[in-house]
Amino acid sequence: MAGGWLFMAGAAFATLLAIATHVAVHCPISPLPLSPPSSSLRFPSNNFLQGTEKLGEGRLNRPEDLCFDEEGIMYTVTRDGWIERMHRNGSWEQWVLVGGPSLLGIATSSTGAILLCDADKGLLKVRDEGATILASQVTNGTRIRFADDVIEASDGAVYFTDASSKFGFEDWLLDYLEARPNGRLLKYEPSTKTTSEVLPYLSFPNGVALSEGEDYLVVCETLRFRCLKHWLKGEKKGKTDVFIDNLPGHPDNVNRAPDGSFWIALLQMDLDRFGLISRSPMAKRILASFPALQQMIKPKGAMVANVGADGKIRRIFYDSDGKVISFVTSAVEFEGYLFLGSLDTNFVGKLLLK
Ligand SMILES: *[C@@H]1O[C@H](CO)[C@@H](O)[C@H](O)[C@H]1NC(C)=O
Ligand SMILES: *[C@@H]1O[C@H](CO)[C@@H](O)[C@H](O)[C@H]1NC(C)=O
Repeated sequence: MAGGWLFMAGAAFATLLAIATHVAVHCPISPLPLSPPSSSLRFPSNNFLQGTEKLGEGRLNRPEDLCFDEEGIMYTVTRDGWIERMHRNGSWEQWVLVGGPSLLGIATSSTGAILLCDADKGLLKVRDEGATILASQVTNGTRIRFADDVIEASDGAVYFTDASSKFGFEDWLLDYLEARPNGRLLKYEPSTKTTSEVLPYLSFPNGVALSEGEDYLVVCETLRFRCLKHWLKGEKKGKTDVFIDNLPGHPDNVNRAPDGSFWIALLQMDLDRFGLISRSPMAKRILASFPALQQMIKPKGAMVANVGADGKIRRIFYDSDGKVISFVTSAVEFEGYLFLGSLDTNFVGKLLLK
């Protein structure tokens, strides 16, 4: 009997030792604890997003972001490397093949071109003839590893995020598990063709948007459940405040609405509900060492919030179970409708706003 117990204890010890050795050798992250806000605002759940109409269903492979040009043509990005566009009459067209799985934030430019963040390649400018790279590194500085979202100011300056200088798009979950401020906000100046750092040490900077008067920009820190307000004009120019914190999910892309408020897509990671894991660097080291375990970590359902210019939540729309739309990464308001990008669907969502 005693021999049997001894054998089992020995086997358990050997297993633990094997796991510890595997983690010590293979763990790619050096994690900090991540604490979801305890006091985040509670809004009654609704399934408003289940009223979403599906545009381009079947042809769009996980269209993460979208934008509209002056003529009302919608542009979106797919995991097949295409920029697809939808004309006013509802017909779709494969516009430009950029290539690769990592096309993310997209925005219009006053030059008539489309600006694009290709996580791997950097900041791109796209015209009918094709795509050209504007910036793949900070001028005289480090490589852009994870170009994520972009917006152009009326003076021509282009603000964009580099979500992580440690992990690329394919490994975004590792950056989430590591929970360190590995990212930054960058600025591309077209007159000098130079790229500089505006804000370093951000925790997965994701969406970026400009206020109505362009006196500040809003940049969302996905890992910190908050968005910052960085002043571009006035006496606070160059200073940074918190725009909104304690968000009920991880903020992804942010877009200004016609009324001056902002639409923020929020991700609810199922791991956040297991506070013990996200707060435990050791548990996260183990998760990060076994790719099969990471497949269990997914955003759950879909959520978008409308936040006033005063930084207060006005409305939240959900599809809690992701019945119709899930993993919504961007929400763009245009002519009375909300258009939704996602890293899970094969369509762009369209929702009538009342
Ligand atoms: C829709 O508009 C586009 C651009 O003007 C045009 O090329 C296309 O032929 C139109 N399609 C239909 C079905 O009318
Ligand atoms: C980058 O380095 C070059 C050569 O050292 C220098 O001439 C240039 O001024 C630098 N640019 C910036 C923006 O620092």
